[in-house]
Amino acid sequence: MNSEPEKDPAAAPCACSGGESNAESPKKKTRREFMLALGFGLNAVAGAAVGIPILGYLFSSLVKPHQLDWVSLGPIDKFPEGTTRLAEFVNPVRRSWDGKTASIPCWVRRIQGEQFQVFAINCAHLGCPVRWFQESKLFLCPCHGGAYYEDGERAAGPPPRGLFTYQFKVKNGDLMILAGSLPTLAQPNI
Ligand code: FES
Repeated sequence: MNSEPEKDPAAAPCACSGGESNAESPKKKTRREFMLALGFGLNAVAGAAVGIPILGYLFSSLVKPHQLDWVSLGPIDKFPEGTTRLAEFVNPVRRSWDGKTASIPCWVRRIQGEQFQVFAINCAHLGCPVRWFQESKLFLCPCHGGAYYEDGERAAGPPPRGLFTYQFKVKNGDLMILAGSLPTLAQPNI
């Protein structure tokens, strides 16, 4: 009897895939590798977009330490004795894109002669800018009603302490302050 040799079922073409064999075609393999590489690439980009700013924040103080520097608020004649006036200085720690935000206001109280007090404008509670009222001789904070006496001491409201002050000196007729860092509760003396 002449009978046909038995076929190995594993080597038979797969009916469900239109006659293709089970073995993966090189084309299909290449597409999968490409998709895998694309996935890794996109994950790496997303990781860098999130991670680099965080690392920059964490290590910024190591890379570029705060640079305190003496800056001028102008001639002392700008500040008559017995008055408190708003002044502005350019932050010595700034970047080219800071623009107007590099200009920082502060309150200057000239007591007499070369006796001054220079106050940070930010309330010692949550940092809102305080305003000086000559009539009542008080600094008032618009945010939660904090009040300070003319010498910066706390008068009322939620602030836990008086206004922060800058170190100052008079040099060649100019009032200079040590600027470059904003005082905070954690670091009140800059
Ligand atoms: S921020 Fe000034 S009282 Fe709260």
